[in-house]
Amino acid sequence: MESERAAQALERAEMMGLDGLALMPGPNLRYLTGLSFVISERPIVVFLPIDAEPCAVVPEFEAARMQAIGLQTFGYSDEEGYALAFHEACVHLELADTRLGVEALRMRLLEARALMRYAPGVELVPADDLYAELRSIKSVAELNAMERAVRVAESAFSQWVTQLRVGVTEREAAGQLVALLLTGGADGLAFDPIVASGPNGALPHAVPGDRPLREGDWVVVDWGVTVDGYASDLTRVLVVGEPGGPLARAHELVVAANEAACRVVAPGTLAEAVDEAARSVIENYHYGEYFTHRTGHGLGLEAHESPNIVAGNRQVLQPGMTFTIEPGIYLPGVGGIRIEDDVVVTSQGGMRLSALPHAPFVIQA
Ligand code: CO
Repeated sequence: MESERAAQALERAEMMGLDGLALMPGPNLRYLTGLSFVISERPIVVFLPIDAEPCAVVPEFEAARMQAIGLQTFGYSDEEGYALAFHEACVHLELADTRLGVEALRMRLLEARALMRYAPGVELVPADDLYAELRSIKSVAELNAMERAVRVAESAFSQWVTQLRVGVTEREAAGQLVALLLTGGADGLAFDPIVASGPNGALPHAVPGDRPLREGDWVVVDWGVTVDGYASDLTRVLVVGEPGGPLARAHELVVAANEAACRVVAPGTLAEAVDEAARSVIENYHYGEYFTHRTGHGLGLEAHESPNIVAGNRQVLQPGMTFTIEPGIYLPGVGGIRIEDDVVVTSQGGMRLSALPHAPFVIQA
C-alpha cells in the first residue's frame, strides 16, 4: 500500500463529501496501492472506505497479492461467479445509501450494476479528477523512472536510425524499433510506435503500413516505452536523402514552436499559455490551419494524463508536473512534421527530459 498517497486521496474524498473510494484495475489503483491488475471479465474492485479498513472483491486465484498488502478480500471462483463476493463486500462496508467515489472513465456497467444491486441507494460519484490532480505532481522517484523511460527510448532510436535503409516498409521499420526498445531496457511499449512516411505523415495518428521508405521522404516517428510503470513519449522526423521540399520550412517552424513553448514553461504559467506559445509561432507564418491538435498532454503512469496543454485549460503549472510539448504541421497529400519532447516543470522553469536533437535524422538514400 502507498499509505501516504492513499491518505491524501481519502482526505480529498472526504472534502468531496464521499464515504469512500472504489478503484478498478489500472493506473489509479497502481498509484495508491502498487498493485497492477488488468481489467477482464473477472471483475476486481478495491474499496478504500474513509472510516474502515480497505478491502477488495477479487477472483480467488488473485487474492494472495491483495492480502500481501493487508487488504481483506472477498474472493470468488470461476464456478461460483462474483455476485456473492459483491454482496458480502457491500454488506461488510455498509455501502447502502452512501456516496462512493468511482472512476467514471474506467468502471463498467458490470461493476456499477453489482454495486447498485447489493448496496441499494448507493450514489456512484465520479472521482477521476481527484486522482488526476494527485498524480499530476511527480515525486523524485517517479521523475527518475520517467528519465529512464526517456533514456531507453532515445538510445534504441539512435541505434535504429543508423540501421535504417531506404526500401524497408513502415511496418518493418516499426518492428525493428520495437525489438530495439524491448531489448534495450523497456518494460513495455507506452503505445504502438508510429512510423509514417511521405504523405502518410499528414495523419497525426497514422498506423505503420506497407509503404517503403523512398528517397525524398520525410518520416514522422512517434514512440515511447514504460519503465517501472512510467511512460516516455517522443516524436522526431527522419528524412531519406537530402532534406528539402515544403516540409523543410514546416520543420523549421515546428522546431521554433517547440522551443517557444518550452521557454514559457514555469511554475505559475497557465497550461493554455504553453499551447499559445507554440501555436502563435505557427500561426504567425500562416500554417495555423495545419496544426490540428493540442500542443501536448500530461505524461506519467499513462501516456495521456493531466495536465492537457490546450487552449482553455487554465490549470496553473506547478513544479513536478510532466507533459509533452509536441507541435506539428500536417500538409494533406504531402506529409507531416511533429517534434515532441517530454518536459518537467521545475522551480527554475521547464526542463526537457529528452535530449535528442530536433534536426531531421538523415537516412542515406
Ligand atoms: Co504524445
